[in-house]
Order: sequence, then C-alpha cells, then structure tokens
Amino acid sequence: MPPSPHPTATASLTDDEIFELRWHRAEADLMAPLARLYGQRMEAGVLRDRVRTLLAEKWAERPRDLRRLDLARDLNPGWFLGQEMVGYVFYVDKFAGTFADVPQHIPWLTDLGVTYVHFMPCLMPRPRPSDGGYAVMDYGRINPDLGTMDDFRAACAALRKAGISPCIDMVLNHTAKEHAWAQKAAEGDPVYQDYYWMFDSDALPRQYEETLLEIFPNQAPGNFTHYPQIGGNGGKWVWTTFNEYQWDLNWENPEVFLAILGIILDLANNGAEVMRLDAVAFMWKRMGTVCQNEPEVHDILQALVQGTRVAAPAVIHKAEAIVGPHQLVPYLGTGRHTGRVSNLAYHNNLMVQFWASLAAHDTRLMTDVLARHFPERFRNAQWATYIRCHDDIGWAITEEDAERHPPMSGPGHRSYLADFYNGSFPGSWARGADFQYNPETGDRRTNGTFASLAGLERALESGDVRQIDLAVNRILMGHALIAAYGGLPLLYMGDEIGLTNDDAYRDDPLRADDGRWMQRPAMDWAHAAEAETADSPHGWILRGTRHLMAVRKATPELAGHVPSQVIDTRHPALFAVRRPGDAATVWAVFNFTDVAQHLPLDRLGIAPGTPLTDLISGHAPAMEGDRLRLSPYGRLWLRPAG
Ligand code: GLC
Repeated sequence: MPPSPHPTATASLTDDEIFELRWHRAEADLMAPLARLYGQRMEAGVLRDRVRTLLAEKWAERPRDLRRLDLARDLNPGWFLGQEMVGYVFYVDKFAGTFADVPQHIPWLTDLGVTYVHFMPCLMPRPRPSDGGYAVMDYGRINPDLGTMDDFRAACAALRKAGISPCIDMVLNHTAKEHAWAQKAAEGDPVYQDYYWMFDSDALPRQYEETLLEIFPNQAPGNFTHYPQIGGNGGKWVWTTFNEYQWDLNWENPEVFLAILGIILDLANNGAEVMRLDAVAFMWKRMGTVCQNEPEVHDILQALVQGTRVAAPAVIHKAEAIVGPHQLVPYLGTGRHTGRVSNLAYHNNLMVQFWASLAAHDTRLMTDVLARHFPERFRNAQWATYIRCHDDIGWAITEEDAERHPPMSGPGHRSYLADFYNGSFPGSWARGADFQYNPETGDRRTNGTFASLAGLERALESGDVRQIDLAVNRILMGHALIAAYGGLPLLYMGDEIGLTNDDAYRDDPLRADDGRWMQRPAMDWAHAAEAETADSPHGWILRGTRHLMAVRKATPELAGHVPSQVIDTRHPALFAVRRPGDAATVWAVFNFTDVAQHLPLDRLGIAPGTPLTDLISGHAPAMEGDRLRLSPYGRLWLRPAG
C-alpha cells in the first residue's frame, strides 16, 4: 500500500485530547462561578487544579458506550429538546419491584412513547422514615431493597438501548444524619462539621428563624435541630430545613462542591443521563432572608453543569425548585447564567394554574400569569411540564397576581383551592386532602392523585356516567396541556391509567405522618393490562394518553426550542398557546369548563376561513360559522390544513 499523503490521518484522537477540548470549551463558564463562590476560601490555582484533576479522573473511568453517547450529544446538543421526548416518573419498587425487574416493563414505556424515565430516590437511604428516600446515607450504593449498583447499571443500559434516558434523584441540599460525613461531624471532627451548618448555641439559629419559612410545619417544625449529645457542653444546633434527620450541607465549603460533583459523575458513569437536583432553592443561606433562591445557588448550579459538560457531556441537569414565578425563571438561565445552568426545571406554576383554572372554570388568572411572568423560550433549556408528582401541590398564587383579578385575593384564592381539592367546597368533584396546615399563615397545601383530584374517584363510586366522562376528559386535557405547552412532559406513574388515592399509608406508622404517600400508589398491572383494550375509564385514559404522546412526537412545532406564546383569547373559559414552528404554526386550545365553548378564530390571530386540522383528532375542528367549537374539557391542536 502506498503511504498515506497525510501520515497522521489515520490516528484517532486520544482520550486526553478529547478531555482537553472539552475542558477548553467549559473552563471559563466553570471557573468564573467557582471563583465567586470560593475565591475567599481556596486559592484560585489550587481550586482549578482540584476541579480539573477530579474531572480528568472521572473521565478516565467513563465506560466506552457512554463516551460514545457523549460524542453523539456533543454533535446534537439539543437532543433533549425534541418533540419526541416524553418523560415518565416512577418509584422502582412500586413500578417493577427491583432494578432487575425494570427491563421487563420497557414495552409499557415504549408503548407510551417514553424516552426518559425518572427513578424516584434509589440511593441507599437511612432506615425508614427517610422522606421517601430523600435522606441518603450512602451515595455510592443503591437502596438494597431495589438491588445493587450492578443492577442499576444493567437497567440503565437496557433503557438506553430502548432509547430511554434514565434520570436519577441527586439529593444535594442535605444528607441523612447517618451519612458518614454527618457521623464524623457528630463525633466532633471539625473537617466534617464544616460540611454542615452546626452551631454551638441557638443564638444564630434564632436570628435565622426570624426570616425563614416552615417547610413541614406539622411533622418537622422549625429549621434547626438541637442535639444535646453532640460536642459536649450544650450540644450542637444543626440546620435541618426538612426533617430532623436531613442535615443541610454547607455549600460555602468548596469540599462539599467537590464531593458532590464527584458523586454526580460517578452516577453518570453508572448510566444516569439526567440528574434531578433536589431542593436546590435551599442550598445557600443568607441571614435576614428566607434562604431560598440566593444568587449563589445559580453559581453552584452553573459550576455543576459545566463540570459535568467536561467529564460526562451526555448528561443534563434538571433543577427542582418549587418556587414563585420570579424566582423560578432563573433556574433555566437568565443574565450571565443564560444557557449555562440547568437544562430542565419543573414548571410548577403551569401545574398550579391548571388546577386553579379547573376549579374556577376560569382561565383568566392562568393566561395572565403565564403570559406575564415567563419568557417564550430559553437558550439550551426548557421546562419539565407536569400535572402531578409525588409531592403535594403548594398553591403558589401570589397576592400581586390575585389582586389583578378582583375580587380575588391571594389568601382567599389559596384557601378556596385547598377547600376545593380536599372536596369540602360545595360542588367540588375532587377527593384530596390538606397538607401542612400552618395556623400562623393559614397556608394549606394539597395531596391526591391526578385521577382523584380530577374527580374520577368520586365519579366511579357514584357510578355517574356523566361525571366519569368529565373526569376522564379533565385528565386527558391535562396530558394534552403538558404535551403541547412547551417543555418535556412528565407522566407520573399510574396517571396513564387513572390510579386513585392510596389511603393505606395511614395504617403504616412510618408513613402515617406524611400525607404525600396518598399520591404514591403501586402500579396496578392487572388494571394496566385490562386498560389496553377495555371500554372503561382506565382504557380511555391509557389509549388517549398514548395517542396524545404519539401525535406530539409527529409535531415538530411542539419541540422545546419553539417559542411558547400564551394568547389572551379574551374568553374566560379557554387557555391557548401558540407554537410558531419553522414550517408551520400550531395553536393549542383548551376548554377548562364542563360545557361546550366557542371562540372566533381571529381571537387566536387566525384569519377567518383558514382551513385547519386538529392534530389530535386528525380532522377539521368543529366550527359554527367562524367560531371554533370546543367540547367540555376539549383540547385542540390546530395547524393550517395542507
Ligand atoms: C424535594 C422532594 C421532596 C422532598 C424534599 C426534601 O422537594 O421532591 O419529596 O421532601 O425535596 O428532600
């Protein structure tokens, strides 16, 4: 063979060269926030070396198949924004049993169109109670009830092969008090005491408490716990935002940052492709504030994201910040963090507005809030849209927003919604329950599954055919909303077959004090099998949901990079969003009432007479003259025909 005219043409890039290129790509965006966070505590050169060494180590350990995925996603960085993306959230034990049992349920997921699954907390928790696994005592081990790290890896590999990206809960605001770091801190080791917020007296905790809020006022009042046995003398006061057994980490300490970044990369190397960063709003403390959403939180998140981009670029991050609209938007990147922080964040406001509009039969507040507070799109990021999850619903309707809609008031509307969804408000169809009533503020949150809050539980009990039909349509409208609004829709396990509340938790002493277990029923596979073909509410919900997700996948206008423009239709029963894609525009319109509604086409900005297709039904939408007709809880995804 003649020698190649380019002698080096056949040599592939070395791993070191690839690392170097990626380090170069991310270095500025990684080191700038770290300098702001830790500049006072660690010399810049030392910090840079520590971070770089850690990243190089984890990259060296990264398995070949995941490196291939890294490359694929380097080449297609918008992969997670596609309209094909559909998410599904489950507890491994409640869905499958153990990790080894997960692969056998992959067909169920692919039939639903799922491309992303979130395993609810699955790392080694403290012995129960563990806040549903959100009190981790060993980040390097899988909860033994669910299997081993090998099983986890195998499940991830099987999912990946089926085109499904696994997401793992990364609890980084706190560890269990049984974690090795906490144990050493409790034994008096000052190095590890600096990993947490520990005080020698209650003087500072009391000052902080003056402005802190209560997260679990009933089951875990206050934000600090006194341990008389720690450290001799009067003991120690430890910052415990959530439960007494969840110790808040001290993110002012760069060692905490390095340790958590290492853990994230280990999980990535075992096959997790999405990190759900838990309770991130609370990670930075500042005296005189509520200690939520402090600017430093966004620096920490940016540094974690950029570090991951060097050593495991296939992996994206999702922020869990259940906060008000103004505080929420920065989690997807604003100002200097634009395009550099989390790629996904829960749109808790869309979820709240869905339930609020449904109860009130009125969408004016929803339209106003979603149009005014949220940008049409983000750079390199999108919402995770959802209707229900494992947590309660906090009625995040601000005074300022409510007062724009007299005679509504913030406290009045929040209390109305809590009453409506606990079922006590006259005319309510819902069956839910109050959660964490705070007598000082009057605040109440709500528990219940999608189906029970949407009226299915009551309707089935009464056997009222019309009510059953309405409840099913509420559920399908919710799924149509999260699939079209703009974002990655997350289906919560069981909602696709209308699972109702699980009240058995009340008889379990280790769960009885946490009403959120109500919305965490086990998957009912017998029901699921029957729903495939049954002419029953569960069958309608399953097949309707599958159909919606299939249509979404075929509709490029629903991709995450396409703007979401909320339209004020001036119709109090309807909500509409416009998605101007490259080749065409799609309008998604939703009727939040149990009667038919009509809307002149020009209220959507569509010229009267324009021929349209409703993508969901595949037909022209029903019209009366120039007015669209929406059936009770109707949903239309409209695109100009042809
Ligand atoms: C998140 C979780 C919630 C948990 C809390 C503390 O908000 O979703 O279930 O209680 O963090 O970890």
